Amino acid sequence: MLMNSIEYWAMNNPLRGFVQRHYEAPRLKRLSKAASDNILEIGCGQGTGARIIYDLFSPQRYVGIDLDPRMIRRAKRKSGALPDATFIEGDVTNLDFPNAAFDLVMDFGIVHHVPNWRGALAEVHRTLRPGGEFLFEDLPVETWERGIGIPFKRIADHPYDEMFRKQEFVDELEALGFDVETHENSPFSFYHFWGRAEKLS
Ligand SMILES: C[S@@+](CC[C@H](N)C(=O)[O-])C[C@H]1O[C@@H](n2cnc3c(N)ncnc32)[C@H](O)[C@@H]1O
Repeated sequence: MLMNSIEYWAMNNPLRGFVQRHYEAPRLKRLSKAASDNILEIGCGQGTGARIIYDLFSPQRYVGIDLDPRMIRRAKRKSGALPDATFIEGDVTNLDFPNAAFDLVMDFGIVHHVPNWRGALAEVHRTLRPGGEFLFEDLPVETWERGIGIPFKRIADHPYDEMFRKQEFVDELEALGFDVETHENSPFSFYHFWGRAEKLS
């Protein structure tokens, strides 16, 4: 679902890019084991992830998709130094790519926005080649049940009734045919979890 105006501002803020570049992306990169010539970023936002992905993974092909046309316009405008990057408006639950099109799919905090999150993970699985990997950084429903998550829940519009618990996300990936490794922040901090899922078949 589309972000409200407060989250739109927060996601397009330089502080968001700083956290993504210096905190989230390096720990995903450390988990990565597969070749990464063809990369899809789901929910690419304003294209900050694209610049980080080029710096860390040097892909031959990068495609970013986002549901929000405003984000795709921003990403195209800001990606002048990335002539090979492609940004497309699209829905992660219905990706317009053939099976096994990518080596690596990146998720920087998008799947918790998607009511049909199982459909999103199924599309990630379908579009990855066998042996390809899904690197994810996301926010399960536990995030919004404690600590700083409680006031944030009032500010951000998310599909809370449909949102996954961490274990449901892992179980769904395993049921699809992924081998899954996850890590998480302390339960007392803002509750991110992140990990790597390798497509077995
Ligand atoms: C929290 S923002 C994260 C943006 C960016 N990845 C980042 O880390 O800054 C979530 C993004 O997911 C996009 N989004 C939400 N639902 C989506 C869907 N069904 N398919 C594709 N993108 C979606 C939103 O438009 C938004 O840009």
